[in-house]
Amino acid sequence: MSGAILWNGAPVAFRAGESVASALARAGIRALGDLPTGQEAAVFCGIGQCQGCLVSLDGRLVEACLTPCRDGLRVASAGAGNG
Ligand code: FES
Repeated sequence: MSGAILWNGAPVAFRAGESVASALARAGIRALGDLPTGQEAAVFCGIGQCQGCLVSLDGRLVEACLTPCRDGLRVASAGAGNG
């Protein structure tokens, strides 16, 4: 399945099987906002270990590199709500 997620309210296309991190990277989006620690969120390990790619989904923080895309999924920068 492919379609588009909503990143901070803007559509970002994804391909079948892509994670949120992959779809954002392919769209040229690498800065994911600010982490609760004050550091800038970004993909580092890509395997769910570093917690560097946290984004907001349904009021909780999730790893963008582990979160599969689905059409209409609303994700936002950490601390920015759900886009
Ligand atoms: S990039 Fe390390 S947890 Fe996602």
